[in-house]
Parts: sequence; structure tokens; C-alpha cells
Amino acid sequence: MIKIGIIGAGRIGRVHITSITTRVHGAVIKTVADPFLDEDTAAWAKSMGVGHTTKDYREIIEDPEIDAVLICSPTDTHSKISLEAIRSGKHVFCEKPIDHDMDKIQEVIKALENTNLKYQVGFNRRFDHNFESLQKTVKEGKIGTPEIIKITSRDPEPPSIDYVKVSGGMFLDMTIHDFDMVRFLAGCDAEEVYVQSANLVDPAIGEAGDVDTAVITLKMENGAIAVIDNCRKAVYGYDQRAEVFGSKGMASISNDSQSSVTVSNGDGVTSEKPMYFFLERYIEAYGKEIEAFIDAVVNDKETPLGVYDGLKPVLMGLAAKKSSEEHRPVKISEIMQ
Ligand SMILES: NC(=O)c1ccc[n+]([C@@H]2O[C@H](COP(=O)([O-])OP(=O)(O)OC[C@H]3O[C@@H](n4cnc5c(N)ncnc54)[C@H](O)[C@@H]3O)[C@@H](O)[C@H]2O)c1
Repeated sequence: MIKIGIIGAGRIGRVHITSITTRVHGAVIKTVADPFLDEDTAAWAKSMGVGHTTKDYREIIEDPEIDAVLICSPTDTHSKISLEAIRSGKHVFCEKPIDHDMDKIQEVIKALENTNLKYQVGFNRRFDHNFESLQKTVKEGKIGTPEIIKITSRDPEPPSIDYVKVSGGMFLDMTIHDFDMVRFLAGCDAEEVYVQSANLVDPAIGEAGDVDTAVITLKMENGAIAVIDNCRKAVYGYDQRAEVFGSKGMASISNDSQSSVTVSNGDGVTSEKPMYFFLERYIEAYGKEIEAFIDAVVNDKETPLGVYDGLKPVLMGLAAKKSSEEHRPVKISEIMQ
């Protein structure tokens, strides 16, 4: 039984605490650390079977009994805590993104060299039943050679302005999942990114220096063209769809709803809205990604998403940001320099 430490007990930390204590075999949570841990969260964690809670995450880093760390704290702490955990010999599951700064991600890559430590990044959508089946369909050649990949990714509501200010901007916070998905579906990296973006949802987002609506086109290394459309607000709920068009056909996935009931009557035909947001739509995927991480640690396997899978979408996000600001196509090689 491996012992886990969880750093950060906010929205996503609680999701992972729940997964490990209710469905994942082979792991127990020894400690949860969060500097702003309140009594309710501590009591909840204990009720879930967590051994110990603390406000000091160094207790986890310095505990020789802890084998693996889940980093669920704010983004600006991820690379620093990754380095500390790796240097004290712990396997790491790190929430996305590893960092916004390429140099800091490179430091993490370097620290992992010549170790047998596992590192996984939290791109949970790869574990969603629909996206997983779509990728498998494409990989098996059922639609031939991929030529066009389309991803729709719209949130039901924008985050708070305080969050927007520290998020790194929409491309590095929200679109980063779509960049990972484009790589997953295309089976290769992007070469070039071009963005049309706007501030249409809330002027406060623009005042905070960010955009809230965008269409992003990408040229992939295998020649396919990808299109991502993003908006921070879709009034009908979390809109997460994808389509891959290829030389032999097309495969697509639609949104998940609470039920598939449709009502047909004199007013028309209606069905349920998509599930509200990521915690509803991807709750199963979050459990599966942690199961895969624990499996990699316990059985000494490669993690399904390594540190380079964490780095590549950040490159794409930085290219998108530059393209949006400078109104021109930006090559990934330009960002790498
Ligand atoms: N994969 C996904 O779908 C997904 C979804 C949500 C969030 N995230 C990522 O997870 C991270 C956390 O997001 P969230 O929505 O849970 O935020 P949150 O604000 O709800 O939770 C963050 C928690 O970290 C704690 N914290 C602050 N500083 C800390 C520190 N130095 N050490 C330890 N804990 C600290 C805070 O007290 C808070 O409880 C972000 O990087 C975000 O990008 C990923």
C-alpha cells in the first residue's frame, strides 16, 4: 500500500481526496496540507479516512514514509513543489499546468533525469469515456488519415476576476486542456498557432488583461489542421465536443447530459442541457487519471502523461497568447527559442 500526500485541499484537491479514499486501490492518503486549511475541511478530510492534516506542506515533503505527492495548490506553486518533491525522492502527480515559464518546467525535467520517479500531469480529459473512445477510433485508422480536428470548449460561466488575474490568461488556464486534446487526437505536436480573440463576455476580463472568446487554428506536424473554439460563458452549460475528419470518414463526440430523455410535444422536441461544469462532466475521468498514476507507481509503469506532455501544451498556450497579442501566426519553434 503506497502512502500519498496531497498538497492543496481546494476544488481539485478535494476531488482527488475523494477518488483515492473511495475508489482507488493500492494507496492511502497519509497527509493533506493546505496553508488555509479550515476546521471544516480538516474534519471532512478525516471523515474521508485521511490520516493527518497540516497547514505546512513541508511536512509531506520531509516525510520519508510518503511515496507520492499530488500537487493541487495554485498554479504558481506547481514547479517549485514539484522540484522539492522530486528532490526528496517522491513520485509526483501535478495539476495542470506545471508552470507558465518554460525555464521552470525545464528545471523539473532536469530534476527527473536519472531517477525512476513517476511524473504525471493532470490532463484529465484524456480519461473521459468519450474523448478516450474518439482517440482510439482515430488511432485504429477507422477514419483514415486525420485532416481536420475540431474542438468546441466553452465554460458555463467565467471565473472570478481575482482568478483571471492570476490564471496566466485563458490560453494557459482553459485552452491548455484543448491543446492537450489536439495533441492526443492528432497523435503529434503542433507547428504553428493562429488566434482570433475578443473580449465579449465581461469587460472586467478585458480590463484584467485577458480575452474570453477565441478561435484558434493550429497546423499540426502530420499536416492536419485543428480548430479550437473557446468561450468563457455558454448559457446552456459546459459545452465540450470534438470531431475528427479524415480521408476515410469522420468521428465525433457530443456532450454528456444527466439523462438522454427527450420530450416531444406540441411545443417542440427538447432534451437536457449538458452537465453543468467540469466537476460534473469529468468526475469519472478524474478518478481514472489517479488510478492510472497509482498503477504506474505501484507496478513501475510509465505514466500515461509525462512531463513532456505537460510542457507541450504550455508552448502552445504561449504561442497562442503571442498570436492573440500580435495578430499573426506564431510558430512553436519561435517560442522554443
Ligand atoms: N485538471 C483540471 O480539470 C483542473 C480543474 C481545476 C483546477 N485545476 C488546477 O488545480 C490547481 C488548483 O485549482 P483549484 O480550482 O482547486 O483552486 P482552489 O483555489 O479551489 O484550491 C487551491 C488550494 O490550494 C491552497 N493553497 C494555496 N497556496 C498553497 C500552498 N503554497 N501550498 C499548498 N496549498 C496552497 C489554497 O488554500 C486552496 O485550498 C490550479 O493549478 C488549477 O489550474 C485543474
